Amino acid sequence: MNGVRVLLGVCGGIAAYKAAALTSTLVQRGVELDVILTASAERFIAPLTFASLTARPVYGSLWDAPERIPHIRLVREAQAILIAPATANVIAKLAHGIADDLLTTAVLAARFPVVIAPAMNSAMYEHPATVANLALLRERGYEIVEPERGFLAERESGPGRLASEERLIEALERALRRRNSLAGKRIAITAGPTREAFDPIRFVSNASTGAIGIALAREAALRGAEVVLLLGPTLLEPPAQVTTVRFTTARELFDAAMQHAVGADWTIATAAVADYRPAEAAASKLKKSEGDLLVRFERNPDVLATLGERKGGSKVVGFAAETDDHEANAREKLRNKHLDAIVLNDVRDERGFGLVQSTLTLLWGAKDKREIGTGTKPHLAARLLDALEEVL
Ligand code: CTP
Repeated sequence: MNGVRVLLGVCGGIAAYKAAALTSTLVQRGVELDVILTASAERFIAPLTFASLTARPVYGSLWDAPERIPHIRLVREAQAILIAPATANVIAKLAHGIADDLLTTAVLAARFPVVIAPAMNSAMYEHPATVANLALLRERGYEIVEPERGFLAERESGPGRLASEERLIEALERALRRRNSLAGKRIAITAGPTREAFDPIRFVSNASTGAIGIALAREAALRGAEVVLLLGPTLLEPPAQVTTVRFTTARELFDAAMQHAVGADWTIATAAVADYRPAEAAASKLKKSEGDLLVRFERNPDVLATLGERKGGSKVVGFAAETDDHEANAREKLRNKHLDAIVLNDVRDERGFGLVQSTLTLLWGAKDKREIGTGTKPHLAARLLDALEEVL
């Protein structure tokens, strides 16, 4: 970490004293550290401690700083932000975009990985509000370093102790590696379900929500890639930092993909594309009648297979949602669609759809395989991009 520029945010909790030891370790490793103390942190530990350890100015109020917009300068110069300890209050502010002091404005202005290390009383940590706020931050790509269980200042034991210095430094190193690791790359990502109508208000679709594609788009943008997200009908919001193109049907996705994905450095196809569409769509709402309704389906184009055929020098990655013979089925798609890698998603019993835990495995080459693991979509998106950066 020699020579890297890091912003350390210290909030007002008992564990603020540990931030001093952490500062000393980081300085000894050559990190150029700018420290921001919140107003409550200054009640627990003096700015002088950090100023002495870093031999640099320490920042407190947004208003007392000698310059007019210190938060923007500090963020522009930094390569990562670590908040340790992070209190429930600051976590809540960050989750809701409140920027009422130097630290929270700086985090809001950051376009790179932010590492948050919560430390607080167990009851506060386990409160549904804190749990939901941390989940929201994780969802947005913030790295949360879970606190440890152990003796707390309240003289009781439970979760809430600031993570060890070793874990904090590991998380910071991960954040630094993530930053700009995909800079200069153009990445197209397809996500979500398709809808194939058979009358103006009825359609055939599937259980996809686009969550994994959205998480991948956010994570790739965070790593510096220029991302185009081709997104089907879903209520989930696309990330702000990416260009989003909406589609409804497989044919619309096909056209959008030919325009945006051909020639991209990487294409990652997570969309659950309908292989068939109703051959005819009625112009008016179908009325029920006595007999059965027969709908004839015709084939849709295979978007990914076409991208595989036209890929030139670009890398194409597919997803395979499988219920049986997982690896064999996925490997067949890897070969038939001329892919560079395929991600196997186990979807037995509708597992793997929506905002739940999924289990992913990356397959490439003739036999190569890496378990990406089980977890939430944002967590898996980061692990998957780590693996793709190595493999592609
Ligand atoms: N895919 C696509 N266009 C299609 C069908 C699938 O781009 N018309 C992509 C998906 O985005 C995914 C991969 O192909 O990345 C595998 O999708 P899947 O539907 O599981 O594979 P199919 O080839 O349709 O095989 P089957 O339905 O027979 O399992």
